[in-house]
Amino acid sequence: MNLYTLFISLYLSFGAGTNYYTPVQKSSLQDSIKKGKVVYESFCMTCHMANGEGLPKAFPPLAKADYLMNKRAESIKAIKYGLSGTIVVNGNTFKGSMAPLGLSDKQVADVMNYITNSWGNQNDKMVTEKEVSEIRP
Ligand code: HEC
Repeated sequence: MNLYTLFISLYLSFGAGTNYYTPVQKSSLQDSIKKGKVVYESFCMTCHMANGEGLPKAFPPLAKADYLMNKRAESIKAIKYGLSGTIVVNGNTFKGSMAPLGLSDKQVADVMNYITNSWGNQNDKMVTEKEVSEIRP
């Protein structure tokens, strides 16, 4: 038994209840955010910009974006399958189109964890690969 499993079993045996998975989840969220940053810089930054502010009238913001933060499933779907038509983000209308980028479900989850935890955004409920795999067009 290594220290980590020891820690987990101690945690369990002292009745941490439903929160017993928290330490594991925390470290995997940080790991996912790190990987998501690389995905963002390779696939998204050209349009949504390094600071997540987008470009007025052309590319919607992700930083403090009500769309991203309130429409979790729609945002995953947009990244997975693309998005076009009229959308409103923070009171501004966008009528553009984002092509699907050919990412794996894991990459979609990672980039979601990065953008929902950057530029003032905060999301403690980690997006998982499984969650992404269950989103259909
Ligand atoms: C070629 C430019 C382009 C690229 C590259 C791009 N997007 Fe988008 N994105 C857009 C446009 C344009 C829209 C709005 C589409 C519409 O008007 O229907 C959008 C919408 C979105 C939305 C929903 C609206 C919002 O602002 O919350 C999210 C989330 C998003 N993009 C995330 C990403 C992520 C993550 C990547 C990289 C994996 C990415 N985009 C790559 C142009 C782009």
